[in-house]
Amino acid sequence: MRRILILNGPNLNLLGTRQPEVYGATTLSDIEAMCRTHAETCGVTVDFSQSNHEGVLIDSIHAARGKQDGIILNAGALTHTSIALMDAISSAEVPVVELHLSNIHARESFRHKSWIAPVAVGQICGFGARGYVLAMDALLGHLEAAK
Ligand code: DQA
Repeated sequence: MRRILILNGPNLNLLGTRQPEVYGATTLSDIEAMCRTHAETCGVTVDFSQSNHEGVLIDSIHAARGKQDGIILNAGALTHTSIALMDAISSAEVPVVELHLSNIHARESFRHKSWIAPVAVGQICGFGARGYVLAMDALLGHLEAAK
C-alpha cells in the first residue's frame, strides 16, 4: 500500500481561528479527517503532522526517504524563506507536492517567491482546505504515471 506524508509548517496549527478570511474556518484536525477519509477511498496510508519548527520539518523530510512514497508539503511562511527545506527535499528523493490554502500569487509580493517550487513535482494553491484532497489526487496520479 502506498504511504504518503502530509506535512504542515508554522502557524498551520491555528487554522480555523487564524485569519479565517484568508485561510477559511476549517481546522487542521478537520483537514486531517478529510485526508484520512480520502486516503481510505484511495487505498493509501497517510501520515499527517505539523510543526512550527524548521528543523523538525527538515527531520521529517529526511525520515521520509525510503519510507514514504510522496509528501504533500504546506511549509507556511517557510516556503518563502527556507533554502534549508529546499535542500532537504532535493536530498530526500521523495516526490513533493507543494500546497497552500491561499493563492500565494495573488497576495503580497513576498509570497510570490517559493523555494519549494523548483524542487516540487507541482504546486496547488488557492483552493482552501479542499486543496489537500486535490494534492493527494495529484500526488497519487504522479506516482501512478511514474511507475
Ligand atoms: C500558506 C501561505 C503562506 O504564505 C503563509 O505564510 C502561510 C500559509 C497557505 O497555506 O496559504 O502560513 O502556506
